[in-house]
Amino acid sequence: MSKFLIKGPNKLKGEITVKGAKNSALKIIPASILSSDEIKITNLPKIEDVDKAMELLSDLGANIDKKESQAKISTDTIKKTDINPKLANKFRASIMFVGPLLARFKEVSFPHPGGCVIGAGGRPIDLFIEGFKAFGAQIEQSDGLYRLKTEGLKACRHFFPLISVTATETFMMTAVLAEGTTILENCAMEPEIKALADYLNSCGAQIEEAGTPNITIKGVKRITAKDFRVIPDRIETGSFAILAAMTKSELKITDCEPEHVKALLVAFDKIGIKFETGKDYIKIFKNKKLIANSIKTHEYPGFPTDLQSPYTVLMTQAEGISIIHETIYDRRLLFVDMLSQMGANIVMCDPHRVVINGPSKLYGKKLTSPDLRAGIAMIIAALSAEGTTEIDNIYQIDRGYENIDERLATIGANIKRI
Ligand code: EPU
Repeated sequence: MSKFLIKGPNKLKGEITVKGAKNSALKIIPASILSSDEIKITNLPKIEDVDKAMELLSDLGANIDKKESQAKISTDTIKKTDINPKLANKFRASIMFVGPLLARFKEVSFPHPGGCVIGAGGRPIDLFIEGFKAFGAQIEQSDGLYRLKTEGLKACRHFFPLISVTATETFMMTAVLAEGTTILENCAMEPEIKALADYLNSCGAQIEEAGTPNITIKGVKRITAKDFRVIPDRIETGSFAILAAMTKSELKITDCEPEHVKALLVAFDKIGIKFETGKDYIKIFKNKKLIANSIKTHEYPGFPTDLQSPYTVLMTQAEGISIIHETIYDRRLLFVDMLSQMGANIVMCDPHRVVINGPSKLYGKKLTSPDLRAGIAMIIAALSAEGTTEIDNIYQIDRGYENIDERLATIGANIKRI
């Protein structure tokens, strides 16, 4: 098993390019099922989760020609609609294949999807089951599998009791081929949803107001396929910005969309981090003193839960008391135990809130990455800590950050994969 060895503290400098968004790539790959035409995807991040999605699609019978960050996918060769439980068990986003398979082939079977520790204990899929029922699908559950069938999906007016990114995307895709006009209410508004809708519209779908709480979709008989460029990863963008702030470095983050990390930049203003933004870059300037600033995670455009862990690390270096309130996931703050071991002064009030009293000097330790975002947060902590940090279970980091060690080394990080 590989590990990262990081010797800190490091000063970083130069430019780092942001890769394509994991959470956009993981939706466009299943969206390829909606049409039998060939789709060409560019700017695909080279990460484990994308490989798993491709493996699952290939197992269904699709033809995939993937080279570096490009892939051509033909789904006219799909032979089955049973999602392989072994593959689905490896990642939560396997659920994204269900809607497109049901919409095009009228049947699908799948297990409860797997995933990392924030999803352990059966992160629920009730929103999906309720949604498919609303479209008129028949659902049976036996032998650990859900079996969905329809004689033709019917459009519906559907209200999501909870705001969910993947449920919004699933039913937006499902409605594209359903008969009639669907109205989805209380939708998530993430940029990846708008990017998916824009792509589907360019292929002949009729989706209106994606990126707002209420989305209207007029069903069509068929759509074609076009080229899609994966949008920049806003979580990678924010993680690099926090890394620069944490190591008191000047860093230019390129090929990104500053508008997509507004909540973080507003927090930077309060903390005292100076930065400059352009159309596709953010430049973080060297900072001296950081001021504590509390945050509460929120659906987009609020402060993203996926940046909570790196931000929590940053607050260990800020002067004063900050409260981090994680509202989306039950287990995403548990990693702070490792920051305490490194020397941070953190008190856990309950599974959703921690209080940080900073600044504290951090020291290198032996750590294990419990999930993707806590993993990058540990790298950020290690790069500013005194001494050597060893991070185990880095598979969890490779899931979502392309060649992170090599890319960070180019800006001066002392990080090795062993
Ligand atoms: N939820 C339910 N029932 C459901 C679905 C979700 O109760 O049927 C709950 C979840 O347990 C959670 C909340 O609703 O408490 C919101 O979850 P959501 O469904 O929005 O999350 P998701 O769509 O599964 C996506 C991203 C996550 C990101 C969240 C929130 C993808 C593949 N994943 O997940 O990304 O944290 O939205 O923004 O798009 C990550 O990249 O590290 C990651 C976890």
